[in-house]
Amino acid sequence: MNPAKGLTKNIVLIGFMGCGKTTIARVLGRMLGTEVVDLDHLIEEKAGMPIPRIFAEKGEGWFRQLEAAVLQELSAPGPPRIVSTGGGIITRKRSRSLLRQIGYVVWLQAPVEAILDRTSRNRDRPLLETVDPRARIQALLAEREPLYRASSDLVIDTGGLDPEETACGILESARYHFAQGG
Ligand code: S3P
Repeated sequence: MNPAKGLTKNIVLIGFMGCGKTTIARVLGRMLGTEVVDLDHLIEEKAGMPIPRIFAEKGEGWFRQLEAAVLQELSAPGPPRIVSTGGGIITRKRSRSLLRQIGYVVWLQAPVEAILDRTSRNRDRPLLETVDPRARIQALLAEREPLYRASSDLVIDTGGLDPEETACGILESARYHFAQGG
């Protein structure tokens, strides 16, 4: 059986920094044999510089505009893909409305401890370059959780699940959703 069978739309992963979007997107891509698109990489390619430099030289507003423009490009018709987004994609209204047009939107939740652990391994996230990253994570989560919720078709709590289990859960729900004509 073709494992991609039943996938009629893109699967779009949203969620906070360090929630596992990139890893789960790769696992889904491998399971389905579909292309994986990483929005942050596309933004870096377009800007010709890495994200920390974009924030430092152009500012967050400029980054958000480019993020929305790249998301808009993904709304063009094509074969179903896995799309991994940056954690702040839901902060702009324009991007929130584009998400659902682009595909089946899955919000990956992760415990604060896991987020803190994963994001402390490198310094490529300008919004967490602060003396108290835990407090920043908690403040941003409080602002963003209602936006993730309002933007998603499915919520998965990844705490206690390995990436394969998370990916299988997503596939099962996505296939059901698509079979219902969603
Ligand atoms: C951001 C998350 C990052 C990246 C940028 C801003 C955010 O992506 O887009 O640093 O506002 O949460 P990841 O979620 O992949 O770390």
